[in-house]
Amino acid sequence: MRIQVGIVGAGPAGLMLSHLLHQRGIESVVLDTRTRAEIEGTIRAGVLEQNSVDLMVETGVGDRVKQQGMVHHGIELRFGGRGHRIDFADLTGRGVTIYPQHEVLKDLIARRLADGGDIRFGVSDVEVEGIDGDAPMIRFTEDGTERVLHPDLVAGCDGSRTRTRGLIPARQDHFRQYPFAWFGILAEAPPSSDELIYARHENGFALISTRSPTVQRMYLQVDPDDTVEQWSDDRIWSELHARVDGEGARIVDGPIFSKSVLQFRSFVCEPMQHGRLFLAGDAAHTVPPTGAKGMNLALADVHVLSRAMDRYFAARDRTALDAYTATALPRVWRAQHFSWWMTSMLHRMPEASGFDLNRQLAELDAVTRSRAGRTLLAENYVGMPL
Ligand code: DHB
Repeated sequence: MRIQVGIVGAGPAGLMLSHLLHQRGIESVVLDTRTRAEIEGTIRAGVLEQNSVDLMVETGVGDRVKQQGMVHHGIELRFGGRGHRIDFADLTGRGVTIYPQHEVLKDLIARRLADGGDIRFGVSDVEVEGIDGDAPMIRFTEDGTERVLHPDLVAGCDGSRTRTRGLIPARQDHFRQYPFAWFGILAEAPPSSDELIYARHENGFALISTRSPTVQRMYLQVDPDDTVEQWSDDRIWSELHARVDGEGARIVDGPIFSKSVLQFRSFVCEPMQHGRLFLAGDAAHTVPPTGAKGMNLALADVHVLSRAMDRYFAARDRTALDAYTATALPRVWRAQHFSWWMTSMLHRMPEASGFDLNRQLAELDAVTRSRAGRTLLAENYVGMPL
């Protein structure tokens, strides 16, 4: 089957790319080894930058995020037992929207299918070949039958466990591992706070987020080797109370119905392309979750990539495609810096000395005390315009 673009991976990057290309009259096939139910049921991040919401609304997939997304105009940083508000509306005129990633995916899948889009869920043995030449191929197995796609261009949107990245021969992998993980829970409870709380405590970081008026999302810094079994409900609540409760804040407990451990790393693959293959989203880069940037970066990548592909198909002009890495990377590194900065400011390093802990408090004090400091944090959190 001949097609214009073969897209490996039906996550935020792959589905949004397929949607944006369709709007420019370019047809694609999206492949994923997961089933539709798995994709739509996997709990991930929940914060959309204003840019991401605008992109969804402008391209006709924003009805539900507008209705159901919760717009937040600030966050609270907690340290030393007190809250310090970062007022996004006042500092930047912008905000963020709490709307979980799997809801974005549901919206994109529904729209692609309504538009006659071709998404193959639950395929196996996906192999991309020939990206160096003029005739790339994607082989895969669907319902026991081997099939072949002949795309002009290939997008590797297959997430952090990507196989397409391995096809970029001379690449630099910039990698940083952190000596901790996040323990994430979903609980049936009313919100503990009107806004997200990022708390720095001697026992480690905690984050209070939300999913709806009745479901709350919370995270605790834990050891990277910790397992779900080591954390009873009582232990989770007692740690959350210890790390967050204090002047102006008290966590509301409730039945916990989901527990998971998230690994922490920073990663950038450079270049993000080779021949006719272009990586987008987590296949090209991973950020630690502290800055809430992962899904937003994936959407920003494909915004750039869809325009470059449009120029290629409209005029056989490769200039923008050749410049894809150079165009996308500055935003990626800004998000890497921000995510690393938030992480380092709020987490407890296992070997932190008294000097380190006091320096960290002084940094938080400097950032929250000055309008310039708060503005720097707010501008990065709400995201630079696309
Ligand atoms: C959520 C996740 C994040 O990584 C973050 O920084 C804020 C919120 C969330 O899942 O709600």
